[in-house]
Amino acid sequence: MVAFSAEEIVDNTIAFVKKELKGAEGGHDWFHIERVYKNSLLISKSEKVDKTVVALGALLHDIADSKFHGGDESVGPKKARQFLATQHVSEEIITHVIKIIENISFKGGNKTQQFHSIELAVVQDADRLDALGAVGVARAFNYGGFKNRKLYDPEIAPNLNMTPSEYKASNAPTINHFYEKLLLLKDRMNTESGKKIAAQRHAFMEKFLHQFYAEWEGKHM
Ligand code: ADP
Ligand code: NI
Repeated sequence: MVAFSAEEIVDNTIAFVKKELKGAEGGHDWFHIERVYKNSLLISKSEKVDKTVVALGALLHDIADSKFHGGDESVGPKKARQFLATQHVSEEIITHVIKIIENISFKGGNKTQQFHSIELAVVQDADRLDALGAVGVARAFNYGGFKNRKLYDPEIAPNLNMTPSEYKASNAPTINHFYEKLLLLKDRMNTESGKKIAAQRHAFMEKFLHQFYAEWEGKHM
């Protein structure tokens, strides 16, 4: 058995993920993974974590989004496990990384999250950060455009009480998504450094919205 160094494993994982995500849609392509990976490294500077677990969790967290596999949530974890086995990663690390993938997109509501670790907390924060700030604005309008949604409609108010299935079926203008999800994320961050970065990206989105409404009314700021 050839043992790879942690660095080699991360490099091999990057190559694997790039290959797997060829042709993925804009919101979850390799560049989303790369940003989440970088956000994870940034947050990890101020947290005591197993850096290999954080790196592998970030790199593999969207390896197979269930939205594109008929809602099957076991495809991603399975793919990740198979790949990590080829790298001779320890069973302990594999299990932890799989738990991160399974729990990262936990959306709250009335179910309770089953697994907790500081490494999951970091990767979850890193993924949420990518929905905020300038990149968050870009991703939201990219998604809205893909779904052929209006940018904004002053007559359609945001709905803060949607069930997950209503939320999925909603065809609301993209601006509503800020009130229904994006502006709520800063209060759902796990780590102290994640909270700080989220606060700055949140402030940017508020500034964006402020200017958006002014321009909508034909005002000069
Ligand atoms: P995750 O990163 O947990 O997979 P989603 O797949 O829900 O999140 O969203 C991916 C990106 O698309 C995010 O940036 C999110 O803000 C955006 N998005 C999701 N739903 C909407 C929506 N209804 N309107 C605009 N943007 C959306
Ligand atoms: Ni993601």
